Amino acid sequence: MYVKTVRKAIIPAAGLGTRFLPATKAMPKEMLPIVDKPTIQYIVEEAIESGIEDIIIVTGKGKRAIEDHFDHAFELEQALLKSNKHDLLEKVKEPSKVDIHYIRQKEPKGLGHAVWCARKFIGDEPFAVLLGDDIVQAETPCLKQLMNEFEQTRSSVIGVKQVADDETHRYGIIDPIDKKGRRYQVRQFVEKPAPGTAPSNLAIMGRYILTPEIFLFLEKQEAGTGGEIQLTDAIQKLNEIQRVFAYEFEGKRYDVGEKLGFIQTTIEFGLQNEEMREELLKFMEEIIRQYAKS
Ligand code: G1P
Repeated sequence: MYVKTVRKAIIPAAGLGTRFLPATKAMPKEMLPIVDKPTIQYIVEEAIESGIEDIIIVTGKGKRAIEDHFDHAFELEQALLKSNKHDLLEKVKEPSKVDIHYIRQKEPKGLGHAVWCARKFIGDEPFAVLLGDDIVQAETPCLKQLMNEFEQTRSSVIGVKQVADDETHRYGIIDPIDKKGRRYQVRQFVEKPAPGTAPSNLAIMGRYILTPEIFLFLEKQEAGTGGEIQLTDAIQKLNEIQRVFAYEFEGKRYDVGEKLGFIQTTIEFGLQNEEMREELLKFMEEIIRQYAKS
């Protein structure tokens, strides 16, 4: 039973970003922008809005731009101040409601290993993990929904959403036992089941609240799917000694971890932006006509 509330979050950002090569050859994939913000900023903002106080970003080689992005940019701020660009100044200020820390994953050994790298920072308290491949828009931030669940159950809780049958092999999938509201009891967590073998359509969507016992399993976890140390495999082991719930969170999820989803998200976020909505709609009507003809 845990009395401590969730205050710390891990954001793994050490992946090689191969799906976006060559764009990610010299730039971290987490810095690719949706409209005018890097994807990782959406994730950091969700953590802040959920009440997280400390974030540790697990980085790797070639990821220094992330640290610069969340740093104080003195010269830039002075220049914007001088030219009275106060709206832009607000946008470039580093987040003040949270402390961001960094640690390097020295070898690309997988998500489970990346989370394990932050164990000393987390210590003996429940914590959150947010992955950058999914952005969620919701009335109550996705992570906050999971934190509210944790307040009630004091157990680990993993965010899930339904996906199409032909997509289950891209995700961690749960085998649910029963459902109460949006909460599932889980028989098993399976990482990327082969097509046609998934126990359900409920996919893990990159938002986790975990108890610190997960580190006992990550410590010993052997490589799984894709030859990597998988977080899902350690969660399944944790599930065998403690209850680990899944929670079907409310809100729309945008897949920015692959090219098509990234472009779709860019278009939709562009349409949500007052300044460009009209022009963008006009442009889309034009090109739809043009491409429908050819
Ligand atoms: C990771 C997790 C997987 C989860 C997915 C969500 O996979 O291992 O369980 O469903 O994130 O985006 P990755 O996409 O890093 O291969």
